Amino acid sequence: MESTVNSLVLEPATPEDVPAITELWFAAFTQPVIGHLFPNTPGMHKWHQDWHLSDFQTKPYQKYLRVVDTNSKDEQCRPRLVAFGKWDLSMPEERGRRFPPWHADSPYQECEDLITTLEKERKRVMGDEKHYYLDTLGTHPDYQRRGAGSMIVKWGCDLADKDGVAAYVDASKEGAPLYQKHGFLDFSPPGSEVASMARGKRTA
Ligand SMILES: CC(C)(COP(=O)(O)OP(=O)(O)OC[C@H]1O[C@@H](n2cnc3c(N)ncnc32)[C@H](O)[C@@H]1OP(=O)(O)O)[C@@H](O)C(=O)NCCC(=O)NCCS
Repeated sequence: MESTVNSLVLEPATPEDVPAITELWFAAFTQPVIGHLFPNTPGMHKWHQDWHLSDFQTKPYQKYLRVVDTNSKDEQCRPRLVAFGKWDLSMPEERGRRFPPWHADSPYQECEDLITTLEKERKRVMGDEKHYYLDTLGTHPDYQRRGAGSMIVKWGCDLADKDGVAAYVDASKEGAPLYQKHGFLDFSPPGSEVASMARGKRTA
């Protein structure tokens, strides 16, 4: 699996990418509400890294993808990681809890409330219909609007189409236009902060 747009290349990510994935997440997710729930502290960086490493090891149905820029090198002289995404091919019951226990730097109850709302929305919109879930997507601000996010969204949509299943994402305001472009529709109740977006299964 590999696709290329100019110098951007989509590939599977590996556990070695976890430090870069974590740095990129904090660079991309600058929304105040996210910063409140997941503050940019050393403890939270470690929490993110441990979470991703654990998911790499224990959740084979979660597919981590990276987009690298072959024209730009990181400190280890590897192509720079400019976007990453995580497509989860499991249903919520198979996956279980999405996150590890919250770090002490996070406001416990607010995090619990948010996740409960997201899970309920996913169940309300998708019910028991088999679907793939775009768990996380981020593009470094230096590389936004250059097609990296689309490469990752398209990867999961193509797989969903091939497998004859639907797709779902809890979309930020920044992400919603990108998902719309790939055929997701917004099923959110009025006034929601996060958009509940689903893409129906394609029939041949
Ligand atoms: C949302 C995000 C992942 C988009 O990634 P990206 O690599 O910039 O996306 P692309 O370049 O593939 O964008 C493809 C299309 O999506 C739409 N789009 C992407 N970002 C947009 C924005 N900020 N505003 C409006 N439309 C946008 C556009 O139609 C764009 O095509 P165009 O540039 O030809 O107009 C990126 O902005 C990001 O990481 N944001 C912060 C974190 C976040 O909110 N992630 C999504 C969580 S659900």
